[in-house]
Amino acid sequence: MKLGIIGYGNMARAMLNGLLESGALPPSDVIVSSRTMSRMAPLIERWPEVETTSDNVLAARRSDVLLICVRSEQVAAVMNEIRPSLSSAGHLVLINSGVRIADVRADVPVSKAIPSITAEVGRGVTLIHHGDSVDTARRERLEGLLSSVGRTMVVDEDRLDAGTCMTSCGPAFIATFIDHFARSAEGRGYTYDEALGMVTETALATASLMEAGQRPRSICGAVATEGGITEKGLDVMRRELPSMLDEVMDVVLREHCRTGGDVGGKG
Ligand SMILES: NC(=O)c1ccc[n+]([C@@H]2O[C@H](COP(=O)([O-])OP(=O)(O)OC[C@H]3O[C@@H](n4cnc5c(N)ncnc54)[C@H](OP(=O)(O)O)[C@@H]3O)[C@@H](O)[C@H]2O)c1
Repeated sequence: MKLGIIGYGNMARAMLNGLLESGALPPSDVIVSSRTMSRMAPLIERWPEVETTSDNVLAARRSDVLLICVRSEQVAAVMNEIRPSLSSAGHLVLINSGVRIADVRADVPVSKAIPSITAEVGRGVTLIHHGDSVDTARRERLEGLLSSVGRTMVVDEDRLDAGTCMTSCGPAFIATFIDHFARSAEGRGYTYDEALGMVTETALATASLMEAGQRPRSICGAVATEGGITEKGLDVMRRELPSMLDEVMDVVLREHCRTGGDVGGKG
């Protein structure tokens, strides 16, 4: 199976490093095409057996599974370039939640796989939606491949937007929470770096408790005794967080509709 990638930016780098680190496929089974060859220098240094090119058509012709990893607004140009070269035996995969399968007008089976930057460490959730023409063998092959870089979840296309907010934007939101928590301890006896290490470890440990089956409310119940100091802090969070997170979800979904939904930003 030859995996092709068009567009070697942040997301392609994270996914490819995760896939190759996991051993899901050998580097010699990968071809990457991107506009700026110099951006692929670290890739070539780390994985010299990966074939690199700036010829999108070559990558399209050679790939059994072709991931389009350019930004939403760049997808149409790439599709116009490669459409005639796509083999009907292939499988096209879009990673932009805002680009609809019908819009790419491909004569090959098309799926969407919305990854997370956390794929680089083999964790997180990839949301998958398969177009009608994707047969079982292709579905299983793609889901199998992506399950090597975290959990996969197959959802309807219209559930991708809210899902993307949690799983693809999520790392930035969670990192921001940790950042501000650490900042609030800065100058209260701790340096920022000390506090960042403490909050990060606590976040990882809390996630482990949840992975072991505990629900958020049971963890809160175990920590916050009635009238204690945690309870006071939770009162503030319960007052502020619901409306803030509703607003975050609303604004992300609104921008999704307006712009075609890039998780990153321009530039
Ligand atoms: N970042 C995330 O966490 C994340 C998560 C889920 C989904 N996504 C989605 O993934 C997509 C890409 O995001 P990103 O953060 O990886 O963007 P990015 O860093 O800007 O990467 C896009 C890459 O595509 C290349 N490219 C653009 N036009 C091309 C063309 N015609 N032919 C070949 N290569 C071309 C760009 O080349 P240059 O180097 O020349 O600019 C760049 O290397 C977005 O739609 C985003 O919504 C991102």
